[in-house]
Amino acid sequence: MMVSHGLFWTLWMVTCFGECLGQDLQFPELNGAIGGSVRFTPNNPPSSIDVVTWHFGTTLILTGHPDSPSVSSVYRDRVSFDNNTLSLELLNLKMEDSGSYSLTVITSSANQLRGETSLQVFEIISNVTLTGPEEALIEGESSANFTSEGSGGTVTSVQWMKDNSPLSSSSRIIFSSENRSVSISPVERSDTGEYQCTYSNPVSSETAKLTLIINYGPDGVLIKGPDVVDLGVQVFLSCFANSEPSASFSWLFNGSNTGVTTDKFTIDKSDFTDSGEYICTAFNEFTNQRKADAHLLLVKAGGGGLSAGAIAGIVIGVLIAVSGICGLFVYLTKTNKIPKLNRKEKAQASGEPAKSKEETEPYYEELTNVQRTNGGRMAQGKNTSFKENEYVNVKHGPPKNS
Ligand SMILES: *[C@@H]1O[C@H](CO)[C@@H](O)[C@H](O)[C@H]1NC(C)=O
Ligand SMILES: *[C@@H]1O[C@H](CO)[C@@H](O)[C@H](O)[C@H]1NC(C)=O
Ligand SMILES: *[C@@H]1O[C@H](CO)[C@@H](O)[C@H](O)[C@H]1NC(C)=O
Ligand SMILES: *[C@@H]1O[C@H](CO)[C@@H](O)[C@H](O)[C@H]1NC(C)=O
Ligand SMILES: *[C@@H]1O[C@H](CO)[C@@H](O)[C@H](O)[C@H]1NC(C)=O
Repeated sequence: MMVSHGLFWTLWMVTCFGECLGQDLQFPELNGAIGGSVRFTPNNPPSSIDVVTWHFGTTLILTGHPDSPSVSSVYRDRVSFDNNTLSLELLNLKMEDSGSYSLTVITSSANQLRGETSLQVFEIISNVTLTGPEEALIEGESSANFTSEGSGGTVTSVQWMKDNSPLSSSSRIIFSSENRSVSISPVERSDTGEYQCTYSNPVSSETAKLTLIINYGPDGVLIKGPDVVDLGVQVFLSCFANSEPSASFSWLFNGSNTGVTTDKFTIDKSDFTDSGEYICTAFNEFTNQRKADAHLLLVKAGGGGLSAGAIAGIVIGVLIAVSGICGLFVYLTKTNKIPKLNRKEKAQASGEPAKSKEETEPYYEELTNVQRTNGGRMAQGKNTSFKENEYVNVKHGPPKNS
């Protein structure tokens, strides 16, 4: 179960030593799993061989002519030799098979060639477990210890990830000597996430996962909503809070509890009595903390609340109305359909009584008539000095003669 960088290093040194001294036959070092198999295959086998010999350390595995080598009894059911490549397959591996393997070849021209490599056998890692804190963790107060375990053989590395990125040590995050456990103290909200612990060796790896949730807050409590609203509109005030788990809310208006317990405070139809101070209090039952924010709302008499679109509509409407009236006025003037004030001069000339008070009356009467007929009643003014008033006639048909 020991992490065995040292052993690797030693084996690598041995192998390199051989290769660097210019061995004739070369093949890579191998790792195998208990119960599994490996095959040693030289890179550059010679042709026309008289004798081939494989050794494990000083123990003979097989020797003889490549077509029919004799296998030593200990290896009888565990090896398979390929006379084509001179490769040796070792089956049903045991821990004790770790060590150095050598191949010696004598060619038909009586040359001797030799190569050596190493095998390391590992158990397959299994049953990796990750145990974390059981109790609720609170930001700034709690510490969290993760402990990992695994069965199986040599573990060459233990790696930790958080949310799929490597977890690195810091002043708060400390790994044990062989990375078997991690201690986080104190915890912060950013420590929330999925932790993975991976045990690996050259032949296997296994990962255990655990999700950590850090409780915190509430903080950053804030009411969002309008400051000034018109009378009779719907109003929403929303209360925000950073909190794990989600905060519960309560709302005060002018110091009295409103009974509202959602993050939203709704006024269906604003009234002047809704003006005042709203306080939202967020409460986290895990951290047992509460924080509040206040918001002033003013309900004012409507009218100032026209949208830009509405204003534009009104302006356009007014412009159309004005141009329409102007056009009508020009038309009526040109066609002499508007009674002219000088008519009363004619009337005076025709000998009707010309009281000074009546001199200003006709035009006023005309307007009176128009207004009345606009109201739906075809009633002529009692003073009918302008019965032939064509403006009225044009607009509303011939007046009834009284
Ligand atoms: C390997 O051995 C078999 C007999 O066991 C033989 O028929 C074959 O020709 C050999 N191959 C080589 C490349 O020597
Ligand atoms: C792994 O766990 C299973 C069930 O918990 C158990 O049966 C098995 O023996 C364990 N394997 C090892 C290698 O400990
Ligand atoms: C975590 O581990 C450290 C050191 O191993 C220990 O002092 C601390 O009490 C542990 N904390 C918890 C919550 O188990
Ligand atoms: C421990 O973890 C660190 C960071 O992930 C890694 O660099 C180191 O190789 C690990 N050590 C072992 C023995 O697994
Ligand atoms: C609420 O308080 C504001 C400011 O103090 C006050 O103007 C308003 O009349 C109060 N409204 C009610 C309904 O108490």
